[in-house]
Amino acid sequence: MAIREILKMGDPRLLRIASPVTVFDTDELHLLVSDMLETMAAANGAGLAAPQIGVDLQLVIFGTDAPNPRYPDAPLVPRTVLINPVITPLSEPGGIDAPQEEADWEGCLSLPGLRAVVPRFARIHYAGFDQYGDPIERTVAGFHARVVQHECDHLIGTLYPMRVRDFSRFGFTAVLFPGLDAAQDD
Ligand code: NI
Repeated sequence: MAIREILKMGDPRLLRIASPVTVFDTDELHLLVSDMLETMAAANGAGLAAPQIGVDLQLVIFGTDAPNPRYPDAPLVPRTVLINPVITPLSEPGGIDAPQEEADWEGCLSLPGLRAVVPRFARIHYAGFDQYGDPIERTVAGFHARVVQHECDHLIGTLYPMRVRDFSRFGFTAVLFPGLDAAQDD
């Protein structure tokens, strides 16, 4: 296992369309997943996508087993390895309306020290596979849905500033949230 370098915005490798994983349960894939888990933990990340360490594959990880110091108020999201993900925006339960959006603060390990308010679908269904090739399928809302949308955006070369609509709410974490421990920030 090894902590890998996280690419920063401006690196063209963050703008690629990632390729699907075609072979599961290989030593190579397990090593990649363990490197990503170690890299995410070392950076206190809420999630990490393979393109962020320069690997051009449709693989994201997210979630923790303990509260995240970078997002102390966020609900716990189960630790998940998600490969070849497909996201479907959903209406509210029982609703016939179009899927609703909600705006909330996001950061990204590829944009250290910054946060912005980003609109995301409030409720989604997502499907994919874990590193063993076993299917994963969940319906989620709120922070969990936000994290999945953020990470999967990395697989299509999209960083959160590309989703920002109100740039008056984009700034430095230390200025926006002076209460957050700067040492814990990205
Ligand atoms: Ni990110």
